[in-house]
Amino acid sequence: MGISLGMPAVRSRTGAADASVPVPAGVPGLAVSDGLMDRFGRRATDMRLSLTDKCNLRCTYCMPAEGLQWLAKDNLLSRGEIVRLVRVGVEQLGIRELRLTGGEPLVRADLVDIIADLRAAHPELPISLTTNALGLDRKAAALKEAGLTRINVSLDSLHPGTFAQLTRRPFLERVLAGIEEAARVGLGLVKINAVLMRGINDAEAPDLLDWALQRGFELRFIEQMPLDADHGWTREGMVTAGDVRARLRERFVLAPDPRSRDGAPAERWQVFRPGSAEPAGTVGIIASVTEPFCADCRRTRITAEGQVRSCLFSHEETDLRALLRSDASDEQVALRWQEAMWGKPKAHGMDHVGLDAEDYVQPDRTMSAIGG
Ligand code: 5AD
Ligand code: SF4
Repeated sequence: MGISLGMPAVRSRTGAADASVPVPAGVPGLAVSDGLMDRFGRRATDMRLSLTDKCNLRCTYCMPAEGLQWLAKDNLLSRGEIVRLVRVGVEQLGIRELRLTGGEPLVRADLVDIIADLRAAHPELPISLTTNALGLDRKAAALKEAGLTRINVSLDSLHPGTFAQLTRRPFLERVLAGIEEAARVGLGLVKINAVLMRGINDAEAPDLLDWALQRGFELRFIEQMPLDADHGWTREGMVTAGDVRARLRERFVLAPDPRSRDGAPAERWQVFRPGSAEPAGTVGIIASVTEPFCADCRRTRITAEGQVRSCLFSHEETDLRALLRSDASDEQVALRWQEAMWGKPKAHGMDHVGLDAEDYVQPDRTMSAIGG
């Protein structure tokens, strides 16, 4: 590390020391090869990288109707910066799985090129994409060809009116066409994420499951988290994992899935149709609020601007973009990332919201800005 007198600083590309980018010191006692450890003994191996904050839907639990102030293009990590950051994660820090998120990653014009570059650099890395599937009918084949492993699609309703009420856009048919095309080109296993809102789509839970089972998709219900721009979340209003199980049991028999959960956020259930001994498939329930899984969390998140968030609910971000735009070495980037993850909070405190409100303060960023 090029350390001189005074405040050690990383040099900018022009060769001048840039005092705004101090040299990462790393975590005392931790080597880069120890990976993204935190103070509680967890190690992050699952990287979630947001490619853009923009989205073409306006889900009520995420965005305000008018959208958000989008980031300027220069502020987003570039294709080259993304590829470098993933390489540092995989080669130096032990990242074993990559999820590309947003906003809506399909709105990024260079998405297929980014995936092709990542695949060329990491032939074996599982790379998945979280998308709302708008426009996927046109891009699925190219994404598959570029080396994308899998997709996760957000879909909360199969009724056009309810879909439009939840997303504030009348695009259900296009989303369904996108999902169908992704399955056709082999972007499987297709996972579907659904958020239930009381009185809007909660009664649809068994229909959604039926639909997913018939197509061989893995459906996961995600508890609504207090991350919406409108601050409309209430504990009383949210549909809990217990509510979801009760709804599903109106039509199906659920039995705990014997497979190990292995750090996965979803609690998986085997689903049986009444009178059948053969499981029809599985369903996942992600109970981030009522049954949090923080103790097993393996995620590290990078925002579209290249900021590390050690947790979805962090109030702190650590800038990697400035290092990527200086002449910092890969090792320096890795050290800063490691510093950021060392500070990962033990838990989010969300399970106490409304009971002991002091434990949880909603972050300023919405899900679309953090990256799901
Ligand atoms: N609570 C729960 N899930 C959310 N998502 C977006 N905002 C929220 C929220 N407030 C989901 C989307 C998508 C995934 C990335 O995150 O539905 O499936
Ligand atoms: Fe867009 Fe996803 Fe937010 Fe919906 S939840 S507005 S699809 S980023």
